[in-house]
Order: sequence, then structure tokens, then C-alpha cells
Amino acid sequence: MISVEPHLGEQQAHIIRQMIASLDEAYWRDRSRHKPNLGLNAEVGYYFSCGRESFPEVIRLAVDAIEPIIPGYECEDWVVNRTPIGGGMPPHIDNEGYLAVSLLCMQSNSGEFRWYENNDLDKPRSILDKSGQLIRFNQMDLVHSVPRALSERYVIVFLYR
Ligand SMILES: [Fe+2]
Repeated sequence: MISVEPHLGEQQAHIIRQMIASLDEAYWRDRSRHKPNLGLNAEVGYYFSCGRESFPEVIRLAVDAIEPIIPGYECEDWVVNRTPIGGGMPPHIDNEGYLAVSLLCMQSNSGEFRWYENNDLDKPRSILDKSGQLIRFNQMDLVHSVPRALSERYVIVFLYR
């Protein structure tokens, strides 16, 4: 099951995005080098991550406060992915042992999230980035990707068990 819904207002998303975007470069881990989330054919994506525990408290609390509820699951952690212009993630599945994921997009027009019907790479389905929009899925073998980002792209990834 994959679903898309509004979660934050434009203004609220903008404020939290500004807080996150103001972080020093030292907070971000280059995921092409550190714990790369490999693609189906072992390709490496290009994006940066900062985990919940690494954020300054003011940001950690602000994001904790907007944690999306998924009935039947408990949010255990979250991480922010920052994709520079031209960066992205190859088609992959998430294999970190969680049972559901929600993806909160923090800006519009930065690109898209792509998933594949029946995990068929010939059947891509696009969900365009929109500020405050939430994508949820609990099918953990769902193949998905992030095509080349059109502008700097921040997404908060909430992880559930
Ligand atoms: Fe993923």
C-alpha cells in the first residue's frame, strides 16, 4: 500500500526546512561514501543524511512534534535526506528492518519520488515533490527511486515498527 496526503501547511514546512537548511555542512553524511543504500544493481546514489540523534535539540523537537501517525505502527526514528541538484537515488528497496516508512517532502518542484508498479522498472509511477506532502508505504520490498533532483531537496524519512 502506498498513499499520498497533505501533512504540513506550506508555511510550517517552510519554517522547518529553513531550520534544517541552516545546519553546518559538518552535520551531513555523504551517503555515497557512508552506509550507501545500494541500488538493485549495486549502483550508488548521491545524497546526504542527518539522523535524529545528530540534530541540535531545537530541530529534533520541532520534527518530533510533526511526526506522522500511521495506525498500527510506532515511529521509532527519523532521518533527513538532503539531495543536491543533480543528485538522486537509484531504484532500490529499503532494508533497514522497519515495517513502514513515511516521507515528508519539505519543498515543491525539487523533483519527484518514483515507485514501480509490481516492482517492474518498466512501470514507473511518479509522485511530484510538494511542500508538506506525505508519502506513506508499508510494503518494504517496494522498489523506489529519486530521479535527478531539480533543486536542493529535503525529505524527512520517518521509520516505523
Ligand atoms: Fe528508500
